[in-house]
Amino acid sequence: MKKIKNLIDIKDLSLKEINDLIKVANDIITNEDSYKKKCDGKILATLFFEPSTRTRLSFESAMLSLGGNVLGFSEASSSSVSKGESVIDTIQVVGGYSDLIVMRHPKEGAPFVASMKSSVPIINAGDGGHNHPTQTLTDLITISREKGRLDNLVIGLCGDLKFGRTVHSLINAMSRYKGIKFVLISPNELVLPDYVKKELDANNISYVETNDILEYMDELDILYMTRVQKERFFNEDDYVRLKDYYILNKEKLAKAKKDLCIMHPLPRVNEISTEVDDDPRACYFKQARYGKYIRMALILKLLEVK
Ligand code: NCD
Repeated sequence: MKKIKNLIDIKDLSLKEINDLIKVANDIITNEDSYKKKCDGKILATLFFEPSTRTRLSFESAMLSLGGNVLGFSEASSSSVSKGESVIDTIQVVGGYSDLIVMRHPKEGAPFVASMKSSVPIINAGDGGHNHPTQTLTDLITISREKGRLDNLVIGLCGDLKFGRTVHSLINAMSRYKGIKFVLISPNELVLPDYVKKELDANNISYVETNDILEYMDELDILYMTRVQKERFFNEDDYVRLKDYYILNKEKLAKAKKDLCIMHPLPRVNEISTEVDDDPRACYFKQARYGKYIRMALILKLLEVK
């Protein structure tokens, strides 16, 4: 039986494959019309057991722009999971109705388990507080277009580094490039988990930890803001206490580099004041737009469309 290529963890892709995806996505941005029929007759299923706006809609928009079709559900309550069906059963059934499945689930590892039984490729669109590889592809194309490189960068990651799955996947990806330094900015309660830090240590990647968003501001090439992940908290009081810990505004950017790239996977709650939106260094809405094109490239790759 032919081996299926899934995307569960960003490390399922080699650096060459990532570079090729970015190349194709850049080509789609300039020649979108020539991709209009590439997925004629193909079906993408989006199974979202957790809320989403960008990830689900950008995948759907990506498939529709390639001439394919989409089906799926956007909440577990509207699927048979609410009747007690297991993820494994759902996947085996949906594999019979589609060519490719995009899945988001609150349980860490659920897309991996699904991929072991699936007859079609599975894309992890976020599993609990663990990983979010397609957001990372979105982040990588953004960095590559905005900075012109993926190496020799000082990257500030700010906010909920404990539960923020986009941060975990981005660190895993960037740790494979040369000359990367991370500045990990979080309250003590939301520091990067040890299992991700081990990855940094094992690869000899330099990083510093701080509570203070201003401490290294003048050194940063990228500032990646994140939302405090309310849905992963056990205690409402802790969330309320921590949710507005960092609010990036014009004043805090006073010492930042002129060519800083400010990113955020979105949705934003309060982490970036809207007064920053007009700053030419604000890249987060562009970032969301690039997400569609890199997902088009990924769909083509996993469906093996030339
Ligand atoms: C992120 C996620 O779902 O992890 N959103 C996204 O996919 N763009 C970030 C978040 O929800 O805070």
